[in-house]
Amino acid sequence: MDKIVVKGGRRLEGRVRIGGAKNAVLPVMAACLLTRGVSVIRNVPRLKDVVSMASVLEELGVECGWEGDTVTIDSSRLSRHEAPYELVRKMRASIYVLGPLLASEGKARVSLPGGCAWGPRPVDLHIRAMRELGATVDIDHGYIESEARRLEGGPITFSAPSVGATANTMMAASRAAGRTVISNAAREPEIVALADFLNLMGARVSGAGTDAITIDGVDEMSPAEFRIIPDRIETATYMVAGAITAGQVEIVDCVPEHVESVALKLAQAGVAVEAAGDSILVKGKKALESVDVVTAPYPGFPTDMQAQFMALMTTARGMSTISETVFRDRFTHVPELRRLGADIKLDGSTAQVGYVEKLSGAPVMATDLRASAALVLAGLVAEGETHISRVYHIDRGYEAIEEKLRGLGADIERMPE
Ligand code: EPZ
Repeated sequence: MDKIVVKGGRRLEGRVRIGGAKNAVLPVMAACLLTRGVSVIRNVPRLKDVVSMASVLEELGVECGWEGDTVTIDSSRLSRHEAPYELVRKMRASIYVLGPLLASEGKARVSLPGGCAWGPRPVDLHIRAMRELGATVDIDHGYIESEARRLEGGPITFSAPSVGATANTMMAASRAAGRTVISNAAREPEIVALADFLNLMGARVSGAGTDAITIDGVDEMSPAEFRIIPDRIETATYMVAGAITAGQVEIVDCVPEHVESVALKLAQAGVAVEAAGDSILVKGKKALESVDVVTAPYPGFPTDMQAQFMALMTTARGMSTISETVFRDRFTHVPELRRLGADIKLDGSTAQVGYVEKLSGAPVMATDLRASAALVLAGLVAEGETHISRVYHIDRGYEAIEEKLRGLGADIERMPE
């Protein structure tokens, strides 16, 4: 296993290019199961989660090729219908094959996803939606066993705007008979991207990006070519990197409107954020002001930026209250930030982040993808060296993070643990 070593104190300056969005690539890859043939997906980042999804598809008889940032998916020889535990436990998003397999093959056997470092992550909304579309779904020995002669469209209302359940339902409904209307749907840009890809394949999806999505099922869909949207969480992570080091960072190939909620909070903290076309210029400064954050489904402040923003608030003047409303217990980064000298008190789903003049480097452990990014950001300003172990977490969602940060002037390197 590798670790990342960061020597703090460098002011970041320069330009960083954003890659394709992990959380758009994964459902788009699964959507290729809705047809037989070769689809081409461009601007795909080199991430472990993309490799994991390719492994799941190959387990089903689908062939995946990868040249540079282009993935080709050939579903001509799709022949199996099981996503096994040893693959699903590595990545919860493997459940995205459930909807498309039911729609195109009429059956699916998908392992229940494992837990996460932070709280349980149920799939009851996915299962309920498949049943409402007419599938039989049983849970047996840790597997979701599901069959559907023909899915039937209908009204589906989610109790929570689940990104995954919205994506799975859109894909299943694309080839169901009749109309499906999803109420309280997730509004994330990755949902809009999936709808765009489905429509390129011949589906009839409208309303994506709002909380009501209408899908009129079609009998046939065909392969398509698609370019993945920029990753808004990677974008926001590098915005925080510029802010936390009081640097000046230009982030290019991004979509500023997708990170408006984060830009607003950074501006309130005293960071200069200027958006222009597909780039954002961030100018940090010393002694930022504390701001309060409450995470929420898009377009609210993203839960996937909660840990990174907390790292920024550890050396901001005053007290910052950070409330996590989307996931329970998504605070595994707190004990690690405390090891770097942060003053953080946890009270249920809220963290009170006090001011400390400086962080000091220490050995810390990454526990999940976004917590790892928070530790790297904290290491950029901590005095001395910060050694972050278990960086395989970070490789799930950030392509070449140490190269990109080094390109901005950070003193950071990866080495065997
Ligand atoms: C997606 O996860 C993202 N992953 C997550 O990003 C992100 O944190 C999350 O959406 C919220 O934005 C991918 O897109 C691959 P949810 P997902 O279903 O779909 C509850 C990252 O760092 N829920 O929107 O799993 C759930 O427990 C990852 O890139 C149910 O109760 O999230 C949570 O409290 C981490 N039952 C809330 O809904 C269900 O069946 C939102 O979860 C499904 C979800």
